[in-house]
Amino acid sequence: MFESKSGVFLIAGLGFFAFAFLSNALVPALMYRDLPEKTTAQLVEENSNLMYQFENLANRYPEQFEKYYGEVTEEKCAEALELGRRTYVSEACWHCHSQFVRPVSREEDRWGPVSRTEEYQNVLQRPVMFGTRRIGPDLSREGGRRGNDWHAVHFFQPTMVSTGSPMPAYPWFFDGSPDKPNKRGIALITYVQWLGSWLESYPYYEDFKPIPLPEEIKESIEKEAEESQES
Ligand code: HEC
Repeated sequence: MFESKSGVFLIAGLGFFAFAFLSNALVPALMYRDLPEKTTAQLVEENSNLMYQFENLANRYPEQFEKYYGEVTEEKCAEALELGRRTYVSEACWHCHSQFVRPVSREEDRWGPVSRTEEYQNVLQRPVMFGTRRIGPDLSREGGRRGNDWHAVHFFQPTMVSTGSPMPAYPWFFDGSPDKPNKRGIALITYVQWLGSWLESYPYYEDFKPIPLPEEIKESIEKEAEESQES
């Protein structure tokens, strides 16, 4: 067998496969076997950012919230979070969005801190929505990046807030208009606001510095502003 090159490649190939399986699957599985997995109730309890967003939804859409969730309690928030995740799965948002900031390509400049193992150690990450491709941005740091009303309008009709967006509209998350999110709509907004809200540096994007505009664009904007003031 070792007389031919293909024999060596076969053994080497199988060997590398076995080694990769050992180091990437077996060893981590054994290492983290006894690490407790957080329940949704625990996740809600220790995350005031999330409760803030849930309460904000109740204040913003009082009638809709009252109808579908009643009061702002941790139990209701947990219920919304779970329904939101199920909706994320069933609507296949993961076809276009990832939930994993990789330690390459300066991804942390675009989305925030690189993802860590312990962030995935809870029931809402079973299975993890890593995603397979990025038609849209990574969402693992989406929490708090936008307001709830922005999300509502965006889900109702993405192009209303994001020019030329290829993201599909989801009118079935609403009772007819963007200011009337229904049970699933409120749940999905709660879920996207949860993503990344557990980080201690939340909201990290406040440090965000916009790239300065080129001089000629700045001048033309100023000129336009002056002209509109005059008229
Ligand atoms: C066909 C691909 C596609 C699908 C399916 C899709 N999206 Fe998107 N999404 C995009 C693209 C592209 C953008 C960026 C343009 C924009 O803001 O609309 C985006 C933007 C977003 C943003 C705003 C990110 C930000 O802060 O700029 C959120 C939140 C979002 N999507 C959530 C969802 C959820 C939840 C679903 C499932 C209900 C979903 N998307 C389904 C393509 C998609």
